[in-house]
Amino acid sequence: MQRGLLGRRAVPHRRGGSPPLWHHGRRTRMDIAQAALESALSLATLHGEPVAVAVADGSGRCLASSRGGDADWTFETEARALAEASARARLDSAALRRADGAPERVGRGTSLLVGGPDGMDLDFAVAVSGASAEIERACAERAVQMLARTSGSGPGSAELRRVMGSFVTGVAVAITTDPGTGGPVGFTATGLVSLSLDPPLVGLSVGHAASSHPAFVRCTDFTVSVLHAGQSDLAVQLARSGPEKFGGVDLVETARGGRRLADASAAFSARTRNTLRTGDHTLVIGEVYEARLFAERPVLLFFGGGRFGDAEPRSAAAAAR
Ligand SMILES: Cc1cc2nc3c(=O)[nH]c(=O)nc-3n(C[C@H](O)[C@H](O)[C@H](O)COP(=O)(O)O)c2cc1C
Repeated sequence: MQRGLLGRRAVPHRRGGSPPLWHHGRRTRMDIAQAALESALSLATLHGEPVAVAVADGSGRCLASSRGGDADWTFETEARALAEASARARLDSAALRRADGAPERVGRGTSLLVGGPDGMDLDFAVAVSGASAEIERACAERAVQMLARTSGSGPGSAELRRVMGSFVTGVAVAITTDPGTGGPVGFTATGLVSLSLDPPLVGLSVGHAASSHPAFVRCTDFTVSVLHAGQSDLAVQLARSGPEKFGGVDLVETARGGRRLADASAAFSARTRNTLRTGDHTLVIGEVYEARLFAERPVLLFFGGGRFGDAEPRSAAAAAR
């Protein structure tokens, strides 16, 4: 079984039980289509425009479709139909192939066909359906750029982990409440990022393979406890899968009924503001409503794809001396 970027077991890639996944290097065509779709949707979101995007393969099979903003479901149906029809028409007659590669507007929605270096095998049709032709076109172009860029094999997860291992992080434990049992669920995490100061927003990256993923995507509140040096054993214990790992771990209740580690160098509580499903993780964005630094002491570090270290706090002034 493959290991995920952060050491989790990665689940075999399968969508809707559909059969064969073509591979370009280590990426499936569905992965490539999904990346293009997310990139196009993020552009529409930025403009506050409701659109739906669909990507079909060269045989007219829809690989991925989704809609953003408050786009009506009919947009997505149209985008799917358009992507599939464009791909099929291209295969049958090449009627929709445009020499200049510019988006072809077909009824409502923009359709764009993409050729690949090795011919039919890398062909995709992108369709965008929305309220504005301008945004449809921009989204289709964004998707196509993404398709072209991601068609290469890219680094494998082991390679990416090795490279990302040179980016040293602290180590935290994220905890939320299991809606079924009411007990704590969570895990050791380094995928934590400060996103905004005003409002105070943090992002927590939760792997889809984590057993606590469903609880994190549904939760309204979660806590993050930052580990200090000397807690590497606890980090390893809480990186196991399943809520039993919290047995024997001292937790304290927060003002709003959440739980955090009793022993930590810092902790904060956040209410979930947004979730962004991307790749094999979901970014859970939380608005921090309580943050506490318990003591200035050496913190636990994680780097090198699996090594722990300690860091002594040092002020910027001291570092400059
Ligand atoms: C140092 C370290 C950092 C980790 N960071 C993350 C992370 O940011 N996001 C994540 O989903 N998993 C991360 N993991 C893996 C989870 O801790 C692990 O998959 C855990 O088993 C998930 O627990 P669950 O199945 O009970 O939810 C990390 C593991 C280690 C050892």
